[in-house]
Amino acid sequence: MFVDRRRELQILKSSYELLKRGDRVNIAVIGPRRIGKTELLLQFKEKAQGVIPYLNLQRIGSLDSFIFAYTRELLYELSNTLGITVERSELLNWDDLLILSAKLDVDKEVKAIKTGTLETLFEAQEAILANTGQKALFILDEFQEVLNFKGFLDTMRAVTEKQKNIAYLVSGSAVRMMEEILEPKNPFFGQFRRIYLRGLPREDTITLAKTTLEKAGIESAQSALDLIYKLTQGHPFYVLAVCRRLIGEGFEKVRRKEVHYAFLTELLTEKGDIYMHLEYVFNESLSRAHRGPVHKQILLILAQEEGLRLSDIAKRLNKPTGEVSNYLKFLLRTDLIVKQGGRYYFADKLMRFWLAKTYLGITELELKREKFLEELIQELEEKYLRAKMELGLAKEAEIREKMREIFGLDFKSYRRGNVEFDGVAFGDKIYVLEVKWRERPATYRDVEAFLKKVKDEFGSAEMFFFSTSGFTDKAMKLCKEKNIKMLTPDDLGIGLG
Ligand SMILES: Nc1ncnc2c1ncn2[C@@H]1O[C@H](COP(=O)(O)OP(=O)(O)OP(=O)(O)O)[C@@H](O)[C@H]1O
Ligand SMILES: [Mg+2]
Repeated sequence: MFVDRRRELQILKSSYELLKRGDRVNIAVIGPRRIGKTELLLQFKEKAQGVIPYLNLQRIGSLDSFIFAYTRELLYELSNTLGITVERSELLNWDDLLILSAKLDVDKEVKAIKTGTLETLFEAQEAILANTGQKALFILDEFQEVLNFKGFLDTMRAVTEKQKNIAYLVSGSAVRMMEEILEPKNPFFGQFRRIYLRGLPREDTITLAKTTLEKAGIESAQSALDLIYKLTQGHPFYVLAVCRRLIGEGFEKVRRKEVHYAFLTELLTEKGDIYMHLEYVFNESLSRAHRGPVHKQILLILAQEEGLRLSDIAKRLNKPTGEVSNYLKFLLRTDLIVKQGGRYYFADKLMRFWLAKTYLGITELELKREKFLEELIQELEEKYLRAKMELGLAKEAEIREKMREIFGLDFKSYRRGNVEFDGVAFGDKIYVLEVKWRERPATYRDVEAFLKKVKDEFGSAEMFFFSTSGFTDKAMKLCKEKNIKMLTPDDLGIGLG
């Protein structure tokens, strides 16, 4: 069962529509492991009409096999679209492809690809598409794997940049690596629109869990579903793992108590899918570390206490900051940790909890004790999941600092009863600051809500609205109308890292 991702599907759909009308938009779908990238791409492919080849680069070992697999998928999808029936299982080698290409009247091009280079492939595909009168949106999953092929990006960019009949939809779980591919110094800078995939929203998470349990004849209390959302933060793989555990345990009705047990069993015992997943990600991330034990030690320190600075960590390791800085740089590249305002945090809060707890060696027997489970959940909610907020607070602090430097306004966070503002400064008049640190643009409703809050609290004030991902057109219009100063990270020289 597939839930949500409506906005993302819409973006993908419209990019293919644009391509058909002659405007190509490449898209990069970026997100952590198991968040649902492949599922989204395949869902889009299934629903869309047209030539949408899909290739997962994870399983491709050499450039030759890439060229073959790429051509094969392209021809397969073309044939299907043009009503030529062919099975994938009939396309096993170049001879099979050549026979098919003759039917499509593109055998000259395919012959050239067979004996050619990567450049030939990209050049010939344009001719193939032109000859058959088609436009293709090629999906390349686990795109960061192309980094194994030297010069791949340069070639691809140079040849495909001016092509009219093809656009790309790339995806990858190595967030840092994907960002590097799209960085200014690299050939693909400015060529891709990025979609960041995160956990599912509350409502859809609950639908996913509820339906999955119902299918197995299990009834679930609303409070239990709420808890599943809270603990998994909408990560679909975690949600499904918890549901599978609940089903496997043979519960008839699921309340909070059962969720406590299922979730912690999944997370903290070796038989759990979440446990295995985290262990895999952890080991894989560190597999290229030359000083593995030190890197591990740093992560354990951060698992105990997040938000440390380089100097704090160096002190605890009793090593020079220069050396520790290098370890941290390595760890940042693995996506395990993030740096915000000079402090280090775990990217995945459950990974942090898992590390902190599994090194303590919690036994299955202990997980049978209800009281112990409750305590663990409480600790998880209060200490680990809440840390997300601290991260947000650190960002807000950084923004207020920049506002001081640039505008000379001394914003302080503001709270009176239930009313909160990210920053208020009192001077000749009242200045109010709103911060939206999100991966989607601020909307009309965000701005409207801010306006109302300011009006209710202060009557009038000079307003600043900071948004990491810009503003929708409507939001922008409203800001201009109401004289709200719009700010983005570029305006303040703030990195998003
Ligand atoms: N929108 C969704 N609705 C329902 N289930 C989903 C959804 N997205 C993902 N899932 C489920 O979550 C799991 C992980 O999804 P998927 O394999 O697509 O993630 P991924 O980001 O491609 O992972 P990887 O980084 O390992 O390639 C799968 O079991 C998938 O069926
Ligand atoms: Mg995938």
